[in-house]
Amino acid sequence: MALAGKRILLIIGGGIAAYKALELIRDFRKRGASVRGILTKAGAEFVTPLSVASLTGDKCYTDLFSLTDEAEMGHIELSRDADLLVVAPATADLLAKMAHGLANDLASTALLATDKRVLVAPAMNVRMWTHAATQRNSASLKGDGIIFVGPDEGEMACGEFGPGRMAEPAAIADAAARLLGAEGPLSGRRILVTSGPTHEPIDPVRYIANRSSGKQGHAIAAAAASLGADVTLVSGPVAIPNPPGVKTIRVETARDMLQAVEKALPADCAIFCAAVADWRVANEGDQKFKKEAGGLPPLSLTENPDILATVSRMGDKRPELVVGFAAETEKVIAHAQAKLARKGCDWIVANDVSHEGGVMGGDMNTVHLVTKTGVEDWPKMGKDAVAEKLVARIAATLKGRWV
Ligand code: C5P
Repeated sequence: MALAGKRILLIIGGGIAAYKALELIRDFRKRGASVRGILTKAGAEFVTPLSVASLTGDKCYTDLFSLTDEAEMGHIELSRDADLLVVAPATADLLAKMAHGLANDLASTALLATDKRVLVAPAMNVRMWTHAATQRNSASLKGDGIIFVGPDEGEMACGEFGPGRMAEPAAIADAAARLLGAEGPLSGRRILVTSGPTHEPIDPVRYIANRSSGKQGHAIAAAAASLGADVTLVSGPVAIPNPPGVKTIRVETARDMLQAVEKALPADCAIFCAAVADWRVANEGDQKFKKEAGGLPPLSLTENPDILATVSRMGDKRPELVVGFAAETEKVIAHAQAKLARKGCDWIVANDVSHEGGVMGGDMNTVHLVTKTGVEDWPKMGKDAVAEKLVARIAATLKGRWV
């Protein structure tokens, strides 16, 4: 069982999504974890302490100043005794308290008294989530190392639509499993993933970039971690959060990316999903190029290192399985096959980024897996599903090769 022997302290805040926290307790326990529940005063308006106690098989903790609770299991012990703290639902109020270090009830005190990792699943009305204060608090919590799962976008209990729905219990349990280094078919394997675009400076204020969002690469890193791999993600500048349970290194340029990749090796498998800029400015300006100087800036381009080709031809340090991506706008398969040979990698995941599909930046992808022995056409799927299928294939291949 993926979470066998792990101890989770679940803090249930006051929102309608609290009813899903009950299902989350069952999911955690099904995966082998033991769960202790803290219910906030507002949370108790939505679910009862009796439900929480029945499902955790323990008492439900509610009161900071309870003489019996404090004598048996004080607030410090509650967080000290856990491997992971999970806040679900994390209300706007709880996030605000956490961001500011307030501790005026049992939940916020346990959260302040911990040095364990904390996973939060926000759930609130869309306008509360998008409010500058909540966004500011979330950014500051992320800076403190708090891991976010969700919120999802969709229909909400208040009748509105948008981001703010709590992530589904299974997704929260998956994120917890990744954070706790759950066992899986990739346990003991090191996987390196590159993701996102690179930014190539023109001068101190301008750069060359591309439309890559990092969604596909980040999803691959997350999927590999859920199967138990030790994952390093080297990401260019993206607007999406670091995936939970993944060591993420943020870089700007192709040269930085190559350096970070080399440092992260050895690995059993490397997946190069980043849209690395092919060229950079050879004569980068030390100062901002000035329009007033007249004429056009004297830009000349030079080629960037090809990270995929470099790693594919590394000899001793070459990962056993090297996977490249090919974003093509025509003759997708033929170009991918040529690229496989040219770059020296084992597989190419090819996708057509030309048509109305909106692959760049979108959530869906249609890919073809090109190997030395053939081509597989995969149906149109979400980027998460592509990631899961690819990573499952990698797990099967690595297993076949060396175990
Ligand atoms: O040649 P092209 O850019 O189409 O190849 C795409 C593949 O090569 C991707 O896997 C991408 O991550 C990788 N690549 C790289 N370094 C570069 C250019 C591309 O790793 N400089």
